[in-house]
Amino acid sequence: MCGIFGIVADREQQLGPILIEAGQRLSYRGYDSVGCATLRDDGTIDLRKDVGKVDEVAARLRLSEMVGRRGIIQLRWATFGAPSRVNAQPHLDSDGDLVGAHNGNVVNNVELRQQFMAEGMTVRSTNDGESCVHAVERYVDRGYDMVEAIRRAYRDLEGDYAFVIGRVGEDRLYAIKKGSGLVAGLADGATCVSSDLPSILPLTRRILRVQDGEIVILWADRVELRRVEDGSPVEREVEEVTESMEVAEKGGYPHFMLKEIHEQPQVAGELLHLLEASPHVTPMVERMAAARHLYLVGCGTSYHACLLGAIYLARLAGRPAVPILAPQFIAQYGPAVGPRDVGVFVSQSGETKDVLNAVEVAQRQGMEVLGLVNVLGSTLMNESEHYLPLVCGYEISVPATKTFTNQAVAFLFLALRMGGHSTTDLAHLPEMLEETLAAVEPQVSALESALADRDDLYCLGYGLTYPIALEGALKLKEITYAHCEGMLSTEFKHGPLSAVEEGYPVLFVVGPEDVPLLVSGINETTTRGGRAIAIGEEDSRLRANAHDLIVLPPAGPLFNPLLAVLPLQLLAYRLSLSRGYDPDFPRNLSKTLTVD
Ligand code: M6R
Repeated sequence: MCGIFGIVADREQQLGPILIEAGQRLSYRGYDSVGCATLRDDGTIDLRKDVGKVDEVAARLRLSEMVGRRGIIQLRWATFGAPSRVNAQPHLDSDGDLVGAHNGNVVNNVELRQQFMAEGMTVRSTNDGESCVHAVERYVDRGYDMVEAIRRAYRDLEGDYAFVIGRVGEDRLYAIKKGSGLVAGLADGATCVSSDLPSILPLTRRILRVQDGEIVILWADRVELRRVEDGSPVEREVEEVTESMEVAEKGGYPHFMLKEIHEQPQVAGELLHLLEASPHVTPMVERMAAARHLYLVGCGTSYHACLLGAIYLARLAGRPAVPILAPQFIAQYGPAVGPRDVGVFVSQSGETKDVLNAVEVAQRQGMEVLGLVNVLGSTLMNESEHYLPLVCGYEISVPATKTFTNQAVAFLFLALRMGGHSTTDLAHLPEMLEETLAAVEPQVSALESALADRDDLYCLGYGLTYPIALEGALKLKEITYAHCEGMLSTEFKHGPLSAVEEGYPVLFVVGPEDVPLLVSGINETTTRGGRAIAIGEEDSRLRANAHDLIVLPPAGPLFNPLLAVLPLQLLAYRLSLSRGYDPDFPRNLSKTLTVD
């Protein structure tokens, strides 16, 4: 989703390089356009923006040369209005003396644009970020000061967003938060504000976390917070951030995705350490166990972890749980849930709008909201009565990898605890993940050429490997742009089998308990000329029946899914590269989906 960054310095200077670096650190969110504005002491605004990646736009428009005392950069992921130069942000007001940019989604954008035009304002784009600027302009033109104008604009702008805005002739920037992330930083000789902490860290580790309904006023030497409700000041302690910035770098790997795949053993180990010591596990387990109905709610990869979590809970704790996609939770169970029900909401970002909408419904119905979340300080974390952090650090690559593993590990841990089982065997998991990565990497490479040109394939699993088949298929389609459908293996013969012809590839993710069943599925494919690629533990039956076998170390049925996802992540990564794509930033996608 979009990202914003604004800076106020104590003197006019070349702000371009600072803005570009901030933009690079926002880029993990996924975006299609980039824009910068600087406000100069002579009362002019330099605005440069275009469609493209940060480095391309920076080179094309010479962003590094931009000078000013105040500056804004925005990375846009198109929601309202096509990706285009005019829709790129920041935006000017009618007279060109206000400039601002937003992150998020103004849902009454269409109505507002009509109002602004009817009021005689100059509306240049269809982008909702421009509406934030005109919403402030409307009240500035009526004689209100900036804080008062922002307070009034806030009432007019529906949706979840954060925006940053500046006015010529002043020495400040202003920002406001309503449902989207916003952090302010206090550096030497400058202050800044951003949707994302990593873009602030190169400048300072002294930060203020902005809350919903707060206006930020950035002066070069201080940051003031005001309540949007009544304009009153908010007192908040400055925090010192201790986490390292290196985690946001590629660490020697060509892509974040590969780095993050290889981080899985380490982050799983860190999570297990945390869970063993965490005071939050027991209350989570107690509430999940006592629930009338238990729902596991997420989207995309996080939903696949919910599917696996439900199997772990049933097998290890005899606890039925309903895994469900967040929007469908609202549609299907929203009216029926109540105070005795519990939802575990799972999200890497903690900001996925579909998930937050489901949280809102659950809260309205009196349900207890628990969270599994990676981004600390995220909305989901704040809304959860109890939560477990996934401790994966930043996951920059758009395809989720390490967060899936830790979501699944967290569910396995909770299920073992709920069932009264020992968790000591989990201590071997990091080592097994490490061993698996080393073992499967060459096997996956060997398969790459056979699949490189395939635009259509299936990925099948059964029982504990069914969620892995779905997850593998999602990874493959997300970054190779091929059609890959994940499915329960037994469903294949109920229709999709008709697609199989000579050489048609079908991946089978085979749990050690399910070899006979999967061998039947493999034969249904191979007798029709299809190419069956099995992923499973060494087994003569798989060797005899499948064309290829990616061998996983022996781990038993519970750990097997956690290992089986690794070759699928690597396969997707390699096929993405062989097709000439950037696996970290697949087209049309965004890391954090803060829109409906
Ligand atoms: O941040 P979340 O876990 O809530 O994100 C949910 C999905 O958007 C996400 O898992 C998406 O499917 C991934 N890009 C898949 O790799």
